[in-house]
Amino acid sequence: MNAARSSPTPSPALSDDLCARLQDGLLEQGFTTTGVRDLLGAGAHAALTRGEPEAAARATREAGGLGSLVRLFLLGDTEPAPPLPEIDALVAGGLLARTPDGVRAAMDLRPYGEDDPDDPAGEALWYVLSDLDTPAARQDRDHVTGVGGASLTLASSLVRTPVRDTLDLGTGCGVQALHASRFSGRVTATDVAPRALATARATLALSGVHTVDLVEGPWLAPVADRRFDAIVSNPPFVPGPARVEYVYRDSGQAGDAALAGLLHDLPARLRPGGRAQLLGSWLHVRGEDWPDRVRAWIPEGCDAWIVQREVTDPALHVGTWQRDAGLDLSAPATRAQAAAWLDWLEDERVEAVGFGFLLLRTVPDGRAPEIVVEDLPGELADPLNAEMAGWLDRVDWLRDHATDEALLGARLTLSPNATLERYAVAGDEGWSDAGAAVVLADGPQWRHEVDEPAAALLAGCSGALPLEELFALLSYAHDRPVDALVQAALPAVREFVRHGVLLPAGTAR
Ligand SMILES: C[S@@+](CC[C@H](N)C(=O)[O-])C[C@H]1O[C@@H](n2cnc3c(N)ncnc32)[C@H](O)[C@@H]1O
Repeated sequence: MNAARSSPTPSPALSDDLCARLQDGLLEQGFTTTGVRDLLGAGAHAALTRGEPEAAARATREAGGLGSLVRLFLLGDTEPAPPLPEIDALVAGGLLARTPDGVRAAMDLRPYGEDDPDDPAGEALWYVLSDLDTPAARQDRDHVTGVGGASLTLASSLVRTPVRDTLDLGTGCGVQALHASRFSGRVTATDVAPRALATARATLALSGVHTVDLVEGPWLAPVADRRFDAIVSNPPFVPGPARVEYVYRDSGQAGDAALAGLLHDLPARLRPGGRAQLLGSWLHVRGEDWPDRVRAWIPEGCDAWIVQREVTDPALHVGTWQRDAGLDLSAPATRAQAAAWLDWLEDERVEAVGFGFLLLRTVPDGRAPEIVVEDLPGELADPLNAEMAGWLDRVDWLRDHATDEALLGARLTLSPNATLERYAVAGDEGWSDAGAAVVLADGPQWRHEVDEPAAALLAGCSGALPLEELFALLSYAHDRPVDALVQAALPAVREFVRHGVLLPAGTAR
């Protein structure tokens, strides 16, 4: 395989003090997520997000200092005199490069934010530093990626329940550490790549976040004697042969072995009841059931929810990641790399590659863990963080109501976001009813097929009566023995609770 070049660019060297002064300067010019959006307007902002710079360039023409910063950092233009403090120090530190006409950005620096759940008007004013996202810059083996789709996917799934400390494993530009700093007293952010740690250090200093400790080392080695309340990680998860072409992407271990190893070691680094949230990829191997493969990795004593979001065939997998690396797909070296990668997948009998979320939580001794592996394809109505937190709460509740007796004694309410959809098929006699499904409008928009007694049971769940009394009424109305109804319906009731279709009375979705 052709190898990516090893770090031709030195790590950024921006002191904390310089970053603080730069942050002040950027804020003074209004270079914030809302400032940029307001300046560009919705159309030009959307065009820029699509990688079309010209509309944004026009919008900056009369915009003074803010316009200059947008052109410098977001459009990649040379600016003769951008309104920044200590330009010489920023050039020496690797953020800017001199050109005959002024300076240009040598790294990617952009405002980044998160709404404050406790203060609707509040927004985190952060700056994320990363390497430039150009094809040339992406050829660096130690390329430090910015806030990409996977970063946002993980960040928007993070459970926000406050904790004392969080580990961000493989921090890269520091984006997950920024998010974790909102719900965690302290954060320890690790990375195997010194260049990533130098970049994260600048991101945190530029964002005024001072509660993160940065530690160098592979996997869990730098925290081998520590335990955390939460672990978050967007690790190098792209399955392929054992090699490191790009440190942000390749684990150095064959296939999905690194994810299996990380899951094995995680619980020892969590305090009792601690949670871990990861992105990951797993192989679909011919003759093997993929959920069984992933389930086998979950260590004893852990609840686990594995949510498969995407499945790609080998060609799409290789093509996607080569394109992501900015390679020319028809160049001979790239084709040779693709051939070797596809050969490896074929030799390993890989039919497809799955990608998704992994949520783990250690459970106290003696309590039965819950492991659920399921598919959740398609668009999501909402970020998954509320669903992840809800899943943990509901799994706890189900554990406390593990016996049929306990469940039958419970009062449940139907989610206010649930609707019943009936559907029909056309035949000789016109439309005839073919079935019904209960559908949630929020979160993952779960959909469950239901028969008439199940639909009636759901409608009756107003929290007024315990389940056993509802079953007695159903038995009478549908003329079915109550025991048969209960035995047929209780597994589905547990599913409804797990997916938040039915809620323990008095709780909100
Ligand atoms: C996919 S990037 C994620 C970066 C960032 N956390 C995000 O969410 O955008 C993976 C990160 O893991 C780091 N990494 C790669 N191999 C590692 C290892 N063995 N141990 C720790 N970190 C590693 C890379 O340097 C890179 O910063």
